[in-house]
Amino acid sequence: MTGPDQAPATASASAPAPAPAVGRRPSGSPLRFAVLGTGYWARSCHGTVLAERPDVDFVGFWGRDGAKAEHAAAGVGRGRGFTDLDALLDAVDAVAIALPPDVQASLAVRAARAGKHLLLDKPLALDVPAADDVVRAVAESGVTSLSFMTFLFQEEVTAWLARMQTLAAAHGPWEGVSVRCAGSIDTPGSPYAGSVWRRERGGLWDWGPHALSLILSLLPPVERVAAVRGMRDTVHMGNEHTGGPVSSMTLTVTAPAKAQESVITVWGPAGRESLKLPTGTLREACHRAVDQFQEAVAGRDGRAHPLDAAYARNIVAVLDAAERQLALPAEQRATAPAL
Ligand SMILES: NC(=O)c1ccc[n+]([C@@H]2O[C@H](COP(=O)([O-])OP(=O)(O)OC[C@H]3O[C@@H](n4cnc5c(N)ncnc54)[C@H](OP(=O)(O)O)[C@@H]3O)[C@@H](O)[C@H]2O)c1
Repeated sequence: MTGPDQAPATASASAPAPAPAVGRRPSGSPLRFAVLGTGYWARSCHGTVLAERPDVDFVGFWGRDGAKAEHAAAGVGRGRGFTDLDALLDAVDAVAIALPPDVQASLAVRAARAGKHLLLDKPLALDVPAADDVVRAVAESGVTSLSFMTFLFQEEVTAWLARMQTLAAAHGPWEGVSVRCAGSIDTPGSPYAGSVWRRERGGLWDWGPHALSLILSLLPPVERVAAVRGMRDTVHMGNEHTGGPVSSMTLTVTAPAKAQESVITVWGPAGRESLKLPTGTLREACHRAVDQFQEAVAGRDGRAHPLDAAYARNIVAVLDAAERQLALPAEQRATAPAL
């Protein structure tokens, strides 16, 4: 249990679709919200949080299995189950998506094209073209999007990041960041044990967005990556950032039981600072994300939220670059033979 995902608790060439009806909701009335997904995270986080908010009219859950959707609604005591996605989209202003990333991307496009605001989860997609489709649908529809990067809504983390930014302003930019995220979906009782995409794509895609959300809070954008595989699903990445700083990431969702820990270290003229990454306060973090989502939907500052679909797309691009490195034959990888 070492971090958000390991602790129990997202211009086509064809003619654009007609402009969707965004913002039909009368001003001041609760946002009509539903969750796409009926799995662990959909029920325990997004659904639970949305159902307990007075500023949300919680409509229910959509899933491919109607009984699971009804069960999820009963579990949070509000809304109902839907299997007809169009019927659900007709009944809401916004959707929170808690589904495997490849499923998220295609449903996010449908929801955005229907004019529904998107509370996305990570990763946005499992490839860049699918992520680009979401960004395009959001831009063309004019809906609000926010990607729930959990660490960036946890007070302990945001306070530490703010302190690191203050130190950099006083002493000079940070020169490097190292993030290790090592959890295990094989921990007895893990709600993620049966997660097919986590088993197939591992820590790179599950932890990678979280690790990058921290790194990109302290360093400029990533320009180039190198990646090597370790034991089990472990991936090690070295990232070159604009202007010269570097970051490294070690990511696994199948760490040995006694080797689970998630930590970030940053160094530069201000010294060296570390934070052990928190495992709790996930629903509190989700409430903060919904607070900011509501603000963004209301258009109070007139800008897209910084963690919008385009932000999430750029994270997918970094992970995809690592995946392409890992797929190369050994002699073409950026590693020199040492034997
Ligand atoms: N931000 C965070 O800290 C955090 C933490 C945890 C999870 N998450 C994210 O939340 C999302 C959901 O995670 P999860 O762990 O609950 O489960 P998951 O393994 O990502 O997804 C399982 C759920 O997806 C449904 N599903 C699978 N394929 C589907 C398809 N083709 N059409 C419709 N439904 C489909 C399954 O339905 P059936 O039951 O019918 O098989 C099941 O309910 C993921 O994107 C994950 O990264 C984020």
